[in-house]
Amino acid sequence: MNVFGLDIGGSGIKGAPVDVESGELVAERVRIKTPQPATPQAIVETAVAVVRQSDWDGPVGCGFPAVIKDGVIQTAANVDKSAIGFDLGGHLEEELGSSVRVVNDADAAGIAEVHWGAGRDVDGVVLMLTLGTGIGSALFIGGKLVPNTELGHLEIDGYDAESRAGDGARKREDLSWEQYAERLQRYLTVVENLFWPDLIVIGGGISKKSEKFFPHLDTRTELVTARMLNEAGIIGAALAGGVESPVA
Ligand code: BGC
Repeated sequence: MNVFGLDIGGSGIKGAPVDVESGELVAERVRIKTPQPATPQAIVETAVAVVRQSDWDGPVGCGFPAVIKDGVIQTAANVDKSAIGFDLGGHLEEELGSSVRVVNDADAAGIAEVHWGAGRDVDGVVLMLTLGTGIGSALFIGGKLVPNTELGHLEIDGYDAESRAGDGARKREDLSWEQYAERLQRYLTVVENLFWPDLIVIGGGISKKSEKFFPHLDTRTELVTARMLNEAGIIGAALAGGVESPVA
């Protein structure tokens, strides 16, 4: 079965049809720049354009960087504040005329990793952390997701954690890899002391440069990089949008 996976991010809206049995893209990915200002209506228009350009007619799964409950956006840490309360799922369904399931972006990436990537066949508790402008989290036990965990917003040393340990902080403050690793270390220590995961999967664009900061990290938990990289958001969203969605 194929489901269209949509990945809505701060800079681009990407999508492709995915074979949800194999986790593979079955056609080329379409990407359109995220409109600015990224009002919810403008996002819907662009997301619909991505689906139409792909000539897709059928079920859709969609990842969005916020807490999502029943398709409705609940928070807006790194997105336009007008998104709060917006029924993204409902609007997309209306425009596309097919079923749409919206999930948190890190949850989508985590679903892909747990099914086909670094978290595959791992027993116990797997925690996926996406390090980008914000920090996204996805928590799994026995492959089942606890949605919307938002561990990027733990308050650590008086700060919203993602503002210190996200990749955005590294860029903004021009931190060296060693300095950044120190920030991340503090964050990972708190997270592992609270959740005691069996595996931590690090995703986000920065995971491609893990050789720069992994050597400076010392965690009790096994730490690995995401394997699906760029397409995890699309693939996981598609799986979430399918009939046997791992999202409750
Ligand atoms: C948001 C999360 C999102 C993460 C990564 C955070 O600021 O609160 O919902 O998963 O950024 O995009």
